[in-house]
Amino acid sequence: MPVITEIEDLKRIYRRRAPKMFYDYCESGSWTEQTFRENSSDFDEIYFRQRIAVDMSGRSTKSQMIGEDVAMPVALAPVGLTGMQHADGEIKAARAAEKFGVPFTLSTMSINSIEDVAAATNKPFWFQLYTMRDEDFIRRLIERAKAAKCSALVITLDLQILGQRHKDLKNGLSAPPKPTIANLINLATKWRWGIGMLGAQRREFGNIVGHVEGVSDAADLGSWTAEQFDLTLDWAKIAKLKEMWGGKVILKGIIDAEDAKMALKVGADAIIVSNHGGRQLDGALSSIRALPSILDAVGDKVEVHLDSGIRSGQDVLKAVAMGAKGTYIGRAFIYGLGAMGEEGVTKALEVIHKEMDVSMALCGRRSMDEVGRDILLVPEGFEGKWQS
Ligand code: FNR
Repeated sequence: MPVITEIEDLKRIYRRRAPKMFYDYCESGSWTEQTFRENSSDFDEIYFRQRIAVDMSGRSTKSQMIGEDVAMPVALAPVGLTGMQHADGEIKAARAAEKFGVPFTLSTMSINSIEDVAAATNKPFWFQLYTMRDEDFIRRLIERAKAAKCSALVITLDLQILGQRHKDLKNGLSAPPKPTIANLINLATKWRWGIGMLGAQRREFGNIVGHVEGVSDAADLGSWTAEQFDLTLDWAKIAKLKEMWGGKVILKGIIDAEDAKMALKVGADAIIVSNHGGRQLDGALSSIRALPSILDAVGDKVEVHLDSGIRSGQDVLKAVAMGAKGTYIGRAFIYGLGAMGEEGVTKALEVIHKEMDVSMALCGRRSMDEVGRDILLVPEGFEGKWQS
């Protein structure tokens, strides 16, 4: 086993071990992938102010997200098909997050179901909801999340229509994988993945199959999901969902200050500045570049979180120093999961934690409360003087 010191190490192993169609599904953005690339490269434009001779003993990265204690301000983002990257992937990732002391968010499009994850963990996790046209299904999904004692509902708002990723279409992505010749040849070389999957609790969308009338296998599911995108979603419907849930609500997929103001109006407990990891509107601003204007608009009235592009503890520290109360990692934990299962997710969290802790110390700070904009050097114009 090679020595793992950075997230890139996990990605290399993941690439070798996971079937190509699932690696590509994770490691791609929509259309030209401009936003996907800039989500990460824009972090590199921000610098730290290194400080010296400051007592750095007794440091802590502990913080809170929506009032819950976290070992560091990093949650696991909802990622569809996680259980196809590694057998029982959602359960493995949720357990790693629980042991580390950070929130886990289960996607609507997960393989392990809400009930599977609840049975395998001890602490409440967060549930991510895709708004769909079948209101009855949504109502039952919300009831199931309540019964599982999920402590927050994350409503994703940037997927009313699907952004196109070329590779997924070319690979004929589906769960379980379609038996095309190319897929079968590729799967034959991924013996470790295959053996794991043979023993997996599930190989289909656990929250959906068996819970929707007329959907019993992958073929039914394909046509059902295609019909389910809610093109008519609006703020009134979002307010209705919030009421139906009755608990804490995090609105995900906000990249514009005007939408952040609307999220505030419907009473979100937190918002996630996110462009879905560059998977939806190609050409949208990176999250880190969009963050300052959103903070200016609503930062003193609602908790602001950020995801998209985070690959290191330095990235987390930069987002927090800019003003985000919490962050999420998507691909960074999938690399770990695909490489080494639960152990790999733990490794990803450890790597990010160490990078964050050491960077914080070298900036002369000892706690998240002490981390502010003054540890950063942000180039003039980073936030942009955008005109529309
Ligand atoms: C996602 N994302 C996502 N978001 C969501 O709300 N529900 C979902 O089911 C999914 N599925 C999904 C699959 C894959 C493979 C990826 C990479 C992402 C978006 C995710 O929650 C998060 O916004 C991004 O992953 C953040 O960007 P990074 O950390 O991957 O760069």
